[in-house]
This record gives sequence, structure tokens and C-alpha cells, in this order.
Amino acid sequence: MSGGHERIGPTAHYTAYVWRRAGFEHAELFSTWQGAALYWGFFAAGEWATRLSPTTPSMRVYLEYRHRLIDAVVRAHEPDVVVELGAGLTRRAVAAALGPGDVSGVEYDLPDMVACKRAALARAPAQVRRALAGRHRVESANVVEPAFARTLGEALATARRPVVVAEGLLSYLSGADRAQLYASVAGALGSGGLFVCDLHTRGGQASVGAASTVLRTAIVALTRRKKALDPYADASQVRAVMGEAGLDEVTFVDPSRYHDAEPRLRRLHSPTHVVTARATSGRPSPTG
Ligand SMILES: C[S@@+](CC[C@H](N)C(=O)[O-])C[C@H]1O[C@@H](n2cnc3c(N)ncnc32)[C@H](O)[C@@H]1O
Repeated sequence: MSGGHERIGPTAHYTAYVWRRAGFEHAELFSTWQGAALYWGFFAAGEWATRLSPTTPSMRVYLEYRHRLIDAVVRAHEPDVVVELGAGLTRRAVAAALGPGDVSGVEYDLPDMVACKRAALARAPAQVRRALAGRHRVESANVVEPAFARTLGEALATARRPVVVAEGLLSYLSGADRAQLYASVAGALGSGGLFVCDLHTRGGQASVGAASTVLRTAIVALTRRKKALDPYADASQVRAVMGEAGLDEVTFVDPSRYHDAEPRLRRLHSPTHVVTARATSGRPSPTG
């Protein structure tokens, strides 16, 4: 695997603070002082300038767009299990497990982030901890290693309609790591499952012009990486790469389909693509 994965960690604190400011359910459980410091430090350092232009999504709009749209896609699938890869401090799996229906949540991240998330959960109100007992867990795993295929397969062995989410993760991974991750998901998903991720194409970035440069620079600064958001060439390349790994029915989500279910999406925009895929020729899903 390529190195530097641990450097993505600070962005998880940043996004958790954005989820809280945007009013997402249960986000307050995972918001940290590190996230607040990054958010306001970054705002003071120049991010505020993006808010002056109607065509440039601010970092907050950019992030809120993908989080709301992925939430809407996940809900529409009516999953029995919600899995987050590179979960960071996101609140989605917890919200799913605390919400209506018999839904369980499984989150995977690297050890330091898992420790941070478990500590946050240990501080959660007693009624939240009781409600999550037996239906939500946070596990250490390197999701780009071949061994993860088995871990995920075991986690989803009895799931009928799982959703596996990779939010804010793929853009930081090398092509080889992405391919390995897709193969693990394809092997584990089952015919009733859905993979949901966000990614970038060169065309999508060109559509917002200078805004994408602003956002790329911002993300490089946040992660202290030399490179971020290495985009796919276009949708055909995404389909080809996912198809080779065993993922099919690759769909670039049209956000307008979710405007009624999530009206705030009408006011959000981003160069990000939210993409779904299935594994229809993978293992059959259990019935009943
Ligand atoms: C940008 S954050 C996104 C967090 C969360 N999904 C969100 O949208 O708020 C990326 C997360 O991926 C995790 N991560 C990076 N590489 C990973 C890997 N190889 N295996 C597991 N987690 C990884 C980081 O630790 C970090 O928590």
C-alpha cells in the first residue's frame, strides 16, 4: 500500500466539525477541539474568500453536499447494515443504528482514529451507549490491504441489503489501493448490497474551474500532503476500473433525484461525484 494514510486523519476532525455545524444528527458526539481549531484556523487563513464567489463552493458547502447526498442514497437503499470505510469521526453509522428499523453499523479505520472514535463513544450519554450496544462497532483495519476482503466478507456474511460507504477516502489513495478496495467490496457486498463513494473526475473539476484549484490547495494544506484529489479521467475510466474489480451497475448519482427527500441539497453544489455500484455477479445475498 502507499504510505501517508495517517496524514489524512486531521481531515476527519475537520469534517466532523463541519457535520456538527451543518446540523447533522448525532454529529455533536464526535466533534473535537482539533476539528474546531482546524476549521477556524483554515477560515482565517483564507477559506473565507471562497464564500464571496457564488460559483466557488466553500469547503463547508463542498463537504456538506457529499455528506447529505450520500446520506440520502444510503437511506433510499433501506439497508440492514451500514458499513463505513475510513470512517473517521463521521456520525452516519451511529445515526443509522440509532434510527428506525433494525439497522446495524460497522466502522473501519486505522488504529489511532479508532481509539479516538471509541473514546468519543465512551463519553456519549448512557442512553446512546445502551441503544448502540450489540448493533454498532468500530474496528481497526487497513481497508486497502488484501486481508481486508476477508474481514469485510465476514462482517457482511448475513447482511441482505448492506451499504458500504467510502466517503472522503478514495481521493487520497493510489490507483492500486483503490483497485484493491473495490475488489474487497465486490467480494463481500452480495447481490442485495450497494457501494457508495465520492470521487473526482477531471471533467467534474473543470466544471467549477478555479474553485477546484482553491479546494485542492485547501486539502493539500489540511493534510500536509504533496498531492490530493488525484482525479479519474472520466466516468468511463471509473466504470472500467470498478468493473475490473467486480463492481458493476456503476452510477453517477444525479442529486436532483434526492431533492424532495433532502431539500437542502438544492442549495448545495460541488465538483465531487457521488457514485454507486453493485456486485451483481458476486455472492448471492442471504434470503429471509
Ligand atoms: C478524510 S477522512 C474522512 C472521514 C469520514 N469518512 C468523513 O467523511 O468524515 C479519511 C479517513 O480515512 C482513514 N483512512 C485513511 N487510509 C485508511 C486505510 N488505509 N484504512 C482505513 N482507514 C483509512 C483516515 O484515518 C481518516 O479517518
